[in-house]
Amino acid sequence: MKYKITNYWQGSKTIIEVDELKKEYNGLTAVKGVSFDVGRGEIFGFLGPNGAGKTTTISMLCTLLRPTAGHATVNGFDVARDKLAVRRSIGLVFQDPSLDERLTAVENLRFHAMIYGVPKADRDKRIPVVLELVELEGRQNDLVRTFSGGMKRRLELARGLLHQPKMLFLDEPTLGLDPQTRHHIWEYVHQLKIEEGLSIFLTTHYMDEAENCDRVAIIDHGQLIAMDTPENLKEEIGGEVIMLSTRDNRAAADEIQNKFALKAVEVNGELSLQVADGNHFMPRLIKGLETEVASISLRKPTLEDVFLKLTGRRIRDEKIEGIEQERTRRRQRGGRKV
Ligand SMILES: Nc1ncnc2c1ncn2[C@@H]1O[C@H](COP(=O)(O)OP(=O)(O)O)[C@@H](O)[C@H]1O
Ligand SMILES: [Mg+2]
Repeated sequence: MKYKITNYWQGSKTIIEVDELKKEYNGLTAVKGVSFDVGRGEIFGFLGPNGAGKTTTISMLCTLLRPTAGHATVNGFDVARDKLAVRRSIGLVFQDPSLDERLTAVENLRFHAMIYGVPKADRDKRIPVVLELVELEGRQNDLVRTFSGGMKRRLELARGLLHQPKMLFLDEPTLGLDPQTRHHIWEYVHQLKIEEGLSIFLTTHYMDEAENCDRVAIIDHGQLIAMDTPENLKEEIGGEVIMLSTRDNRAAADEIQNKFALKAVEVNGELSLQVADGNHFMPRLIKGLETEVASISLRKPTLEDVFLKLTGRRIRDEKIEGIEQERTRRRQRGGRKV
């Protein structure tokens, strides 16, 4: 199936322009020439599995890595030639924790302000604003060591906003956080877009979270394989998804292929099947199958189905889950509730 790549942002000016950006690491091409624009005020998401090239792309846009080929501008500044100007106009929250745990929340923010050359008067005005935004004002003088994973993430977000950037980069902002905290982080992101007029570029491998973006680019093996609004991406799939559990999924998948010329993919012990008209197809399917059906249900497509259709794989596998659980443990060490 061929997806159209929609590279536009209705009417407004762009804040990021990327043209055939490429990165090689000693023979491995991590990013294979990606092109896209991000509009001012847009929440733009890179969605893709582990190793797809998300962090590498963000690192090039933030001037932390030099592109092997291609061009990119952020806020009108070239990422290869105007590094300092790019850095001044962006805020960045890294994938991995990057706070100094031996300092208090406010000390971490002051340190950042110093690095960015924020004048003291501005700094002293801005720190309470960003702390209030992430609801940490009551804990500002506590050591970061005593914070929960969610609180640390919120403080990193506050730090990224300290020097009033126009553009905020968030690399897996909710990785390893519990669902409630993830939801909370998304509330801040939407609030920032509306109240501070920020443009946001973020990466995630959580399908459900990508739904929060204005536009999503799906990246796999260093290439963009689809780009559009979440609604349009799902619409391209058309129809509905049937989930089916049977006594023998492999036999059932073969039968579905032979009798209906449809491809069923096994996901978590269930067969997933994309069909045009689920309500009418379900009775035909049950009648036509010789393999015993244990349960059957119908649902609307998700971005996970889009990825599955494009690549034949799920976005998350057990290996990733393992890495993630380890990250969660690391983040939650200290164990406090958010
Ligand atoms: N510093 C590096 N040196 C060599 N290979 C790297 C380096 N950083 C990332 N890679 C490789 O590049 C690919 C993309 O990695 P990355 O951008 O971190 O993906 P993602 O953020 O989507 O998980 C992976 O195959 C990864 O192993
Ligand atoms: Mg990454």
